[in-house]
Amino acid sequence: MEDKKTVQFDFNNMMAGVIGEENGITERELKEIESVASQFAKELKTERTVGKLQFLELPYDEKTATEILETVNSIKGRFKNLVVVGLGGSSLGNIAIHTALNHPFYNLLSEKERGGFPRIFVLDNIDPDRFAGLMEVISPKETLFNFITKSGTTVETMSQFLIITSLLRDKIGKDYKNQIIATTDREKGTLRNITQREGFISFSIPAGVGGRYSVLTSVGLFSAAMSGVDIFALLKGAAMMDEMCKSDSVWENPALMGAALYFLSHTRKGKNILVVMPYSSALSGFGDWFCQLWAESLGKKFSLNKSVVHTGATPVRAIGVVDQHSQLQLYMEGPYDKVITFFAIEQFNKNIPVTNKERDIESDLIYLKGHSLNNIMRAEFEGTRLALTEQRRPNCTVTLAELSASTLGQLFYLFELETAYSGKFYNVDAFDQPGVEAGKINAFAMLGKKGFEQRKNEINILLQKAQKKYSI
Ligand code: PA5
Repeated sequence: MEDKKTVQFDFNNMMAGVIGEENGITERELKEIESVASQFAKELKTERTVGKLQFLELPYDEKTATEILETVNSIKGRFKNLVVVGLGGSSLGNIAIHTALNHPFYNLLSEKERGGFPRIFVLDNIDPDRFAGLMEVISPKETLFNFITKSGTTVETMSQFLIITSLLRDKIGKDYKNQIIATTDREKGTLRNITQREGFISFSIPAGVGGRYSVLTSVGLFSAAMSGVDIFALLKGAAMMDEMCKSDSVWENPALMGAALYFLSHTRKGKNILVVMPYSSALSGFGDWFCQLWAESLGKKFSLNKSVVHTGATPVRAIGVVDQHSQLQLYMEGPYDKVITFFAIEQFNKNIPVTNKERDIESDLIYLKGHSLNNIMRAEFEGTRLALTEQRRPNCTVTLAELSASTLGQLFYLFELETAYSGKFYNVDAFDQPGVEAGKINAFAMLGKKGFEQRKNEINILLQKAQKKYSI
């Protein structure tokens, strides 16, 4: 399995030859974009060479992975729970890995069944009821907390840090620090300062790797390793994809082709919604991870030359087969404004036959005899794909030979690179997030953080002026 091509990209149903010119890309349109795409690939390589795109080097960072495993081995067996606290790029990768690679009901397994590894929880939202609910079902004394924040200042993460550390201090005293792992910038930020003072175990997020590109750093790898995921296989998978995307030709580089097709579909065919629809519950977290990556990287007001562009396609996550009974109606008959990307797994870990015993089957269910959940899933996927194609709805499919640490590593890398190429196509900075920062600044100002007084005054004026007329 290792050396086989384990992730494949099929874009036949994106093409005009299959779904017509109004919705599909013509070979001429692809030809027109070929040389500029190749130019973008070369630019990215140059930027990589001068160290600007550090996320592309992460698959080769065996040193960090080794340090993580050493830490995991030194604390294994000491904790019943691991709670990861973080948001956005500091949580979605963790959730994606656990959902994809751990048992679907991992936290319900016994400690023995989990191989001695702790239960895993992720606290991202600061919903007070959810927070309190988690504290009710774990014993803080038996729990390791991993606070993840690149900036070291994010209000949601740091407020939970204060609550949890105060609780731990009350319960355990000064040894509370043995229950904290901080994952943050190597030098900067409040969490780093506290870590240095208190002596928490800590990991560094490389300065040049942005939150949503950090899943293959200690951000995603520590909690993965704490549940027994093979983090070297994740990295190896990502390195395989790096190899598969070496070419400067759209025809030989799936990330470049993917970026070119999404861009053409958006800008020439008006498809401004990008649906990702894995036929796998395990890939639901990956879908959410992708949506953040795409939205935050490409949804931009300004182009690189500072013109106002307000660009970006809206990512939406659906799940096969669940959304066949929900969103699919809209995808089939609603506006022609979407591209659907399916993810299909060829070989699930388990094969679940329906039944072969005729006595168990009602006559109108006899057609299910000899089938399995596996081939019903496959039939439903093929059927949906076919139906959408018949309706001239552009769609493409990423097929995984199996869902493993290696193929998940490949997916992470493929879509990170594809997003970086897309930044080139859209001519925007795929690595900043001024919109997200604006939200953080308003939160600081409204909560009275020092240094944000002027913004607080502006907000107060806006709030005074706010119309109150139209509410019921
Ligand atoms: O991708 C990003 O930059 C963001 O989604 C951040 O990850 C998110 O806002 C959390 O920031 P931080 O890790 O600094 O707490």
